[in-house]
Amino acid sequence: MTVTVRVPAKVNVQLAVGPPRADGFHDLANVFLAVGLHDEVTATPADTFRLTCTGPDADAVPLDPTNLAARAADALAAHHGIATPGVHLHLAKDIPVAGGMAGGSADAAGALLACDTLWNLRTPHPDLLSLCADLGSDVPFSLLGGAALGRGRGELLTPLDVGGTFHWVFAVADGGLSTPAVYRECDRLRGTADVPEPQASPALLTALRKGDPHALAGALANDLQAAALSLRPSLADTLEAGKSAGALAGLVSGSGPTCAFLTEDAATAETVADALRRSGTCRTARPTTSPTPGATLL
Ligand code: C5P
Repeated sequence: MTVTVRVPAKVNVQLAVGPPRADGFHDLANVFLAVGLHDEVTATPADTFRLTCTGPDADAVPLDPTNLAARAADALAAHHGIATPGVHLHLAKDIPVAGGMAGGSADAAGALLACDTLWNLRTPHPDLLSLCADLGSDVPFSLLGGAALGRGRGELLTPLDVGGTFHWVFAVADGGLSTPAVYRECDRLRGTADVPEPQASPALLTALRKGDPHALAGALANDLQAAALSLRPSLADTLEAGKSAGALAGLVSGSGPTCAFLTEDAATAETVADALRRSGTCRTARPTTSPTPGATLL
């Protein structure tokens, strides 16, 4: 028996970051949209644990026990008080690695659902979500998909209504950015300034509910963007290239370095993607839509 799970990438249409907490994390108001770039996680019975990976960035993926997909399989087994059964996990990666699109989190959520199915454990959904939260702040959203507001460190999710399909282009950078390094740079840039409690923007939630790309473009906000630009100044050129090619707005996706561009319709997304590919400011550009479902058994 083989089980395959498809898991989406995400973009944060709002990422409001509070001051650092005592545990080193930051409280967030984090509005996630699942987007149509996917990884597939396949679980097959095996004599021992094995992890393999294919895809354009496969060389950058660690295939040791620190990989979040391996940790997910271990955590699921431990939750049920069983030794980790032999399993071969294969990651077919299409989500940029270390790109600010929750690719590692997607693999963890995919591995959890694939192993739960392969091992016939039937773990209740709330337990799966809590295992996800222990693995990483973005992992619960990778399981859930759609659109959601994440509070706490991003793991406490409230699903959101979205009244239409949004069209995006993702400009994929060469190389990744370290999420902890971007949060540290955000704190450093803020210095001693007072940082308000992060709040979800009412205008942004209304734009999502109405499915209005113009209103959403005006409300996009990412508190990590200045830090990502400080660590990778060339992203300013990418943002400029996408906007001058006709995007309604552009922003850094999560901790970057992928840049996300919202467009009016699918045809404009193709035009913007072509212009970005020719601009020399990114490795490639991928048009796609949101929202899209979370982790799904194929
Ligand atoms: O939860 P996750 O393992 O994805 O977080 C990676 C790193 O990102 C954390 O170790 C922390 O440095 C930073 N982070 C944060 N506040 C959050 C989420 C992540 O500071 N809410």
